[in-house]
Amino acid sequence: MNILLTGGAGYIGSHCTLELIKRGHKVTVLDNLERGHQETLDTIKQQGGEFEFLKLDLRNLEELRNGLRDRQFDAVIHFAAYIDVGESVREPAKYFENNVVGSQYLFQILLENKVNNVIFSSSAAVYGTQEIVPIPETAEKHPDSPYGETKLLMEMILENYCQYSGMNAVALRYFNPSGAEGNIGERHYPETHAVPRVLKALMDDKFTFGVFGSDYNTPDGSCIRDFIHIQDLVDAHIACIDFLNNNKGFHAFNVATGKGTSVLELINTAEEVSGRKLNYKIQPRREGDPAQLVADPTKISSEIGWKAKFDIKDILKSAWEFEQKRPMSDYQ
Ligand SMILES: NC(=O)c1ccc[n+]([C@@H]2O[C@H](COP(=O)([O-])OP(=O)(O)OC[C@H]3O[C@@H](n4cnc5c(N)ncnc54)[C@H](O)[C@@H]3O)[C@@H](O)[C@H]2O)c1
Repeated sequence: MNILLTGGAGYIGSHCTLELIKRGHKVTVLDNLERGHQETLDTIKQQGGEFEFLKLDLRNLEELRNGLRDRQFDAVIHFAAYIDVGESVREPAKYFENNVVGSQYLFQILLENKVNNVIFSSSAAVYGTQEIVPIPETAEKHPDSPYGETKLLMEMILENYCQYSGMNAVALRYFNPSGAEGNIGERHYPETHAVPRVLKALMDDKFTFGVFGSDYNTPDGSCIRDFIHIQDLVDAHIACIDFLNNNKGFHAFNVATGKGTSVLELINTAEEVSGRKLNYKIQPRREGDPAQLVADPTKISSEIGWKAKFDIKDILKSAWEFEQKRPMSDYQ
């Protein structure tokens, strides 16, 4: 199949790009490289093979229209967005412009070109703090940040395009994507995610991993999250391409394991996997951090047949392996 991936030079998009190429699909990556990496694209070429790269910015409607003119795709996987929750609190306008206006421009051009099948990177952030855990897709949504609001808004816009303009879309609400595959992995700057920060603490004695809160109502007092292996996440996208060929309209699914891991368990497992000790410090709770973010993944398993295969130990093993191949410039 002929597939367009926006944000294919970033963390999740690059893993999906590599896997689709390996499976023999014709792949086009669209990215402005603002937060993705040219060297990741080079690695994908070495490991997987050829694909087309379009250096375009979603916020430039005319550039986008020209770049995508007369191009047909069997499916579009839309990863490109800003992803830092804290930054979105400090600079909400930047997030609404990139994640909402940029996505809207993309969808507008896809509709003009009669490209109808879209998989959208949504997030657990659409749910905000929830009383009932594990969280089903039907839970009331009240995001805790502008980032979460942008994802919810895009789901609503897509749902309307599905209802009125003939689009078919799947919104995948990722919980905590983590881990790596081969020579590509997670490289965000600044890095705010737990797994790469734990690994950084294992690699660097001078870096102390912050545990935000130890007085939550959880068995060990630290927050609980649902970590999902990047390979499982990629498989979910591939399963959705087939699903969209046979199912019309708008669908939203949690992509997660349904099993929670506490931050302290994450530290212990990382120490076990690496055979090293790390420095960590209990710090005050962060505003807006729910005690538990664990998904109910029943819907995607019953409707699509996808289920997570990997656990937290597999995630940390793959991430630890990548951490040691990571360019030292990442630490400077
Ligand atoms: N990583 C996570 O923990 C996580 C969790 C839930 C949801 N998501 C969603 O998954 C998607 C991918 O996340 P990621 O971790 O791979 O992020 P990332 O920052 O690693 O990758 C995003 C990519 O999109 C590109 N991009 C951003 N704005 C663009 C624009 N205007 N035009 C063209 N390219 C643009 C960046 O250059 C980058 O390569 C995002 O939509 C994110 O909201 C991520």
